[in-house]
Amino acid sequence: MIHTNGSPTATETPVVIDVNGLSVYYSEKQALKGISAKIHDNKVTTLIGPSGCGKSTFLRTLNRMNDRIPGFRIEGDIKISGKNPYGKGTDLLALRRNVGMVFQKPNPFPMTIYENIALGPKMHYGIKGKQLDDAVEQALREAALWEEVKDDYKKKNGLNLSGGQQQRLCIARMLAVRPEIILMDEPCSALDPISTAKVEELIKQLAGDHTLLVVTHNLQQAERISDYTAFFMFGELVEHGHSATIFGEPSHQSTQDYVSGRFG
Ligand SMILES: Nc1ncnc2c1ncn2[C@@H]1O[C@H](COP(=O)(O)OP(=O)(O)OP(=O)(O)O)[C@@H](O)[C@H]1O
Ligand SMILES: [Mg+2]
Repeated sequence: MIHTNGSPTATETPVVIDVNGLSVYYSEKQALKGISAKIHDNKVTTLIGPSGCGKSTFLRTLNRMNDRIPGFRIEGDIKISGKNPYGKGTDLLALRRNVGMVFQKPNPFPMTIYENIALGPKMHYGIKGKQLDDAVEQALREAALWEEVKDDYKKKNGLNLSGGQQQRLCIARMLAVRPEIILMDEPCSALDPISTAKVEELIKQLAGDHTLLVVTHNLQQAERISDYTAFFMFGELVEHGHSATIFGEPSHQSTQDYVSGRFG
């Protein structure tokens, strides 16, 4: 179901992700049912909804993180920056360069902080030396981790950071590749309030020149950080619009029930 309530008007930023009639299956199990959504450039969209409703499936389908799951298949149409990520001849490396992702559980590589971040720019852009050092430092600064690690980031293993620092390291690693679109699946769920505030601040800063899709179970967070909100339930996109509308006067009873904490 798609409803026009709060839907974007002609004055809004261009559509960068255009999904039409997307259904996703894991073998017999249908995880997404005919999702259509237009995601606007340089804005934050939060995905909310009860556990198991398909939020992670939606995100992971966009940058083909589900490809290796046996029985995974899709129907419908996806366009990201005008291209079908499932089209013949899709360059996966280019897709991942354009669409970065951060997961719920921080997953640093077992190597130094510096190496964690340097890997991406080296692989995607072939940079090295001073240029690479600068890219690493810039990403650490953007992820608000620089001050905490600047003395030992070339020696310290990424796994020896705290959970909140590891998540910011993973954000820095993703930023260093300079994606235009950023997918975040519950990026703050393992973080304390201070680290959460840092990540929220970062999301707001990135929104100026990135398109962000952020899954969260924290409704206050969704309201704080997002321009748009998409409410999923049982694999359907029930309602999608301006966050003020979704949280203030949604069209659907189920949205109303969810955002007012009556279920989920
Ligand atoms: N690898 C998989 N194989 C089979 N079924 C899966 C797989 N991953 C997810 N599913 C099913 O697809 C549905 C949607 O799952 P998904 O992880 O997208 O939900 P979610 O909204 O992210 O939930 P949560 O809020 O708990 O993270 C669920 O019914 C889930 O059991
Ligand atoms: Mg999930």
